[in-house]
Amino acid sequence: MSPRVVLVGPPGSGKTTVGQLLAERLGLAFRDTDVDVAATAGKTVSDIFTQDGEPAFRAMEEQAVATALAEHDGVLALGGGAVLAERTRKLLADHVVAFLNVGLAEGVRRTGLSTARPLLTGVNPRATFKALLDARLPLYREVATLEVDTDHREPQVVVADVLAGL
Ligand code: S3P
Repeated sequence: MSPRVVLVGPPGSGKTTVGQLLAERLGLAFRDTDVDVAATAGKTVSDIFTQDGEPAFRAMEEQAVATALAEHDGVLALGGGAVLAERTRKLLADHVVAFLNVGLAEGVRRTGLSTARPLLTGVNPRATFKALLDARLPLYREVATLEVDTDHREPQVVVADVLAGL
């Protein structure tokens, strides 16, 4: 088994919202590796970052992604930093991967609406988000089989673009 579509992209790109809608449209189950990591650890992603540190989270995430890629046959959303792991990027080469892109201003605005993102709660969320985009854009593009812009676009429109690109 293998996911029909894997979604990657920065925090705030709409992976969960779009992924759930997409799964509905395809009549498939939706799975999110952040949820898998939290379930395995028995605590929230924020608590893992605070109590165990980012490297511990990344190790758990890498394993959760490998497991989900091997056993889930629906729509799979990865955490925004999952592509940092080389093993994950290699595994993604065998899958249909949609990169949901979001620009700096809109990404900062969307992520600012939530307090659940441990990497973006610092003093300068804009600078943090910019550094994150600069470092990761090449990685998202390396693994993606299609790229969809989500800036100022309703989730339904993004879903339609993903479906058109499958
Ligand atoms: C992270 C993104 C989060 C979550 C963790 C780290 C990142 O997922 O995995 O907070 O490094 O970008 P979302 O992209 O779903 O917010």
